Amino acid sequence: MATGATTTAATTGGPGAGSAGAAGSAVDGPALPAPRGDLSAAVIALLTEGSRHLPGGPAVSAADPYGDDLQLALYLAYELHYRGFAGAGDQWEWDPDLLRFRRALEERFLTALRADTPRPGSAAEALDALLVEPVDGDGVSHRLQDSGELWQLREYAAQRSLYHLKEADPHAWVIPRLEGRAKAAMVAVEFDEFGGGRADRVHARLFAELMTDLGLDPAYGRYLDVTPAPMLAVVNQMSLFGLHRALRGALVGHFAAVEITSSPGSRRLAKALERAGGGPAAVHFYAEHVEADAVHEQIVRRDVVGGLLEAEPGLDADVAFGAASTEFLEDRLGSHLLAAWDEGRTSLREPLPARPVPPVPSHA
Ligand SMILES: [Fe+2]
Ligand SMILES: [Fe+2]
Repeated sequence: MATGATTTAATTGGPGAGSAGAAGSAVDGPALPAPRGDLSAAVIALLTEGSRHLPGGPAVSAADPYGDDLQLALYLAYELHYRGFAGAGDQWEWDPDLLRFRRALEERFLTALRADTPRPGSAAEALDALLVEPVDGDGVSHRLQDSGELWQLREYAAQRSLYHLKEADPHAWVIPRLEGRAKAAMVAVEFDEFGGGRADRVHARLFAELMTDLGLDPAYGRYLDVTPAPMLAVVNQMSLFGLHRALRGALVGHFAAVEITSSPGSRRLAKALERAGGGPAAVHFYAEHVEADAVHEQIVRRDVVGGLLEAEPGLDADVAFGAASTEFLEDRLGSHLLAAWDEGRTSLREPLPARPVPPVPSHA
């Protein structure tokens, strides 16, 4: 569904209008980022000033579906369902004009994703393909393991923090849309992701400790401004799949892809951080995922995917799409990172400040 003409029902008015920072505001959320074009500027103006001049369908259709402006606009709309932003009233989460605009952005993104993702024959085929580890892999985790420098690992962590500081949250949306074996298994894996009842073991918390080790600020959303579009697309995909019941099959396929590829990738990243002197908490985050995700992979494959498709066999193509599109977006991100690093330049929109404390020698 596309929005028609520019929404002009009111330039201000409606929830929070003229007083977006008043009662109900998220005063302690992350700061709103700088806009990256007309689409994201319009969302920021809505959240801060109540301005309802949201661009219409033609502007959305003309935007690059993977570009900075559309991806940031979508990210801003989605983030209202997680932590919100400082100065943006909580009431914007369910604002009809913003939801209509978000739907147009989603359609643009999802249509591109469906067109650009190679179509596997079945969910089983898509997931089997992920199990094959190339002997001489040249992905990001291979590169970081073999020759990654500390500044590259810091850049990697800074942009990944947009997901890992809310790790497993986007997948929790799917729980009410599952039943029986799939639901029980999904909750079992999520229970681990959320620390198994221990706040100090919540994976998002472990990632915050990794960031501290790397001299990064672990505040939620801190690196949004410097995070490039390919990473925003990775995070937005999870929210898109999670927030729509119609995409529950795609969410499960996505989750399976993440869990299947996590264990070997985490092993390489743990080695990379160890070698580069990333610090014990940094190594621990990935070391923890080597074993945990080897188990999660089995549970997700057998019971979450298996249980869902047993109950709803018609979702097979959606599960396949979810897995294949995850690989597609991860490959785009990987290409972006390696292209920048090959040229010795930052993969971020701006380079990070230097690590504030000297690296601790790994054999001290
Ligand atoms: Fe995790
Ligand atoms: Fe996991």
